[in-house]
Amino acid sequence: MTRPPMPNPAGPEWPADAVLYQIYPQSYADSDGDGIGDFAGLTARLEYLAWLGVSAVWLTPCFDSPFRDAGYDVRDYLTTAARYGSNEELAKLTDAARRYGIRVVLDLVAGHTSDQHPWFLASADDPADHRYIWSDRAAEGFVASPGRRAGWYRPNFFDCQPALNYGYARQDPAEPWRQPIDAEGPRANRAALRETMAQWLAAGVSGFRVDMASSLVKDDPGFTETGRLWREMRGWLAERHPDAILLAEWGDPAVSVPMGFHGDFFLHFGGPGDGAALRSLWHNGTGTVDETWPPAACYFDADGAGSMETFVAAWQRTVDALADAPGSGHAILPTANHDLSRLACGPRTGEQLAPAFAFQLTWPSVPAVYYGDEIGMRYVPGLPDKEGSVLGPQYNRAGSRTPMQWDSGPNAGFSTAPADRLYLPVDPAADRPDVATQRADTGSLLHVVRRLIALRRSHPALGTHGSLEVLHTGYPLVYLRGGRFLVVVNPRREPARFALEQRHVPRTALIAHGVHTDPDGTVHAEGFSYAVFEL
Ligand code: NOJ
Repeated sequence: MTRPPMPNPAGPEWPADAVLYQIYPQSYADSDGDGIGDFAGLTARLEYLAWLGVSAVWLTPCFDSPFRDAGYDVRDYLTTAARYGSNEELAKLTDAARRYGIRVVLDLVAGHTSDQHPWFLASADDPADHRYIWSDRAAEGFVASPGRRAGWYRPNFFDCQPALNYGYARQDPAEPWRQPIDAEGPRANRAALRETMAQWLAAGVSGFRVDMASSLVKDDPGFTETGRLWREMRGWLAERHPDAILLAEWGDPAVSVPMGFHGDFFLHFGGPGDGAALRSLWHNGTGTVDETWPPAACYFDADGAGSMETFVAAWQRTVDALADAPGSGHAILPTANHDLSRLACGPRTGEQLAPAFAFQLTWPSVPAVYYGDEIGMRYVPGLPDKEGSVLGPQYNRAGSRTPMQWDSGPNAGFSTAPADRLYLPVDPAADRPDVATQRADTGSLLHVVRRLIALRRSHPALGTHGSLEVLHTGYPLVYLRGGRFLVVVNPRREPARFALEQRHVPRTALIAHGVHTDPDGTVHAEGFSYAVFEL
C-alpha cells in the first residue's frame, strides 16, 4: 500500500516535549466526600502535578453517562457527569491547569454512544434514522432493537455501546446496512464529532484522546476511509484550533500517525504481534490477562528472562514509517492505563520500578504516566466488577482503577466518605505507598520520577528530538541519546555487565543508581539499577 500523505505535518509543537499523565477522574481526588473523584478535587491537586513536572493530563471520559463502561458509554457529549461537577467547573479546571503550565486533554468516544443517548433512543424508534448501523435481520454481531423499530443494531464494544454510523468502506447489496461514508447518517455523525470537539476546545481543553480510533468506518481494508476521516478532522483542527491535538487509541503509531493523529500509544493490541511490543516490556502474566496473549517473558522482570528486541524492532518500524514527516506525530509509551495492569503488578514492585521509569523517561517516545504509577501504586487483585471493569475470567480492570493514594490517613487521603462508599476500595496493603510519605523522602520512587522528568525536560536530546542508538538489548539495556547521553538500565535482580567502546565511555553521571563504568569501558550494573550519563 502506498503511504497516504501526511496532513498539516507542522502541527503544534508542544506534544513533542510533553510528559503526559493519565487521570481516571473517578479515583483521583474527591472534594465533596461522596466517594467519587471530581473536578474540584483534581483542581486542588494541580500543584502536585506541576511539582512532578507533567505538562498535560488526559482525563478518561467525564461526560454524562449511565456508567456501564465507566463513562465510555456517553449519554451526552456536551455535558459533564454530575458526579465530577459542572461544565463550568471543568472550564475552571482547565484554566487553573494552564496557570500551572499543564494542558488538559479529554477523551473523545467517537465510535459509539451509550444505548441511553437520545440519538440512540430516537434511532431505536425510527426506521428512517441512520445515525447508527441497523440491520433488518439477525446478522452476526448485531443486537436486537430495544425500541419500536424492528431490527438489530451493531454494537462497538459492549452491547450497551451502539456503534455510530460512519459508513462502510465496501458496500454489498445483500447487506443494505453498509452505507457509504457520505450517506446522511455518517455525515451527521462527522458533523457532531466536530461540534463536540469545538465546544470543549472553546472551554480551554488542548485536545482529545480518541477512543477506539480505528473503529469508525467499518470493513475498511488498510483503514483508507478511516484515515480519510481523521485527516479531515486534523485539517479542520489545524484551521480552527491549531494548538489542539488528537491522540489515537489505536495501538500502532506507524499506521495511525500517517492517518492524521498527533500521537498514538503503544498498547496491548495493535501493530505486529497485536500488542506484542508493549507486552514485551511490562506484561509479566499477572494483573489483567487476556486469554489470547501468548505467555512470554517481559523485559522489566526480576528474573531477567525477557529481551528488548521486540520493542526495539517495533520502535524502528515506527520511526521508519514516520520518517517522511518528522515531528508530525509521536509514539506514546504508557507505564500502564485504565485497561491494563499497573507497572507495579504481581512480583514487580518496590526497587524494580525505578529502572522502568529510567527507560520510559529517556526513550524518544512521548511518555504517559498512569496516575499513581509514579509512587508505585499496585494493581489490586480480586475486586468485584465495577462499571464494566471485567473483560474476561482473568481480566479485571478495576485493579488498576483504585483510589489515588495521597497520604497515610483514612482512605489514603482520597476521600472523607466512609470506606464502603468509595468508588473502589483503596489498596488494603499495610505498606501501600502514598504521595505525602514519598514527597517527604528524597530517596523515594516519586523523587526519582520527578528527577527523570526534570532531566528530560531540560535536555531535549533525551526527549523526542534526540537521536537514538541502541548499543545493547539484553541485560543491561544500553543506549545513546542525541549522541551525548548514555542510558543504562538493568531491571533484573542479577547484576549485568556491558563493554562500551572507548568513544562511549561517559564522563559525568546525571542520575545513577547502582551503575558505574570503569575507565576501560566496562559498565557494571547492579540488580535493579539505572543511570543517565553524559559523554
Ligand atoms: C477503550 C477504552 O480505553 C476502554 O476503557 C473502553 O472500555 C473501550 N474502549 C470501549 O469504549
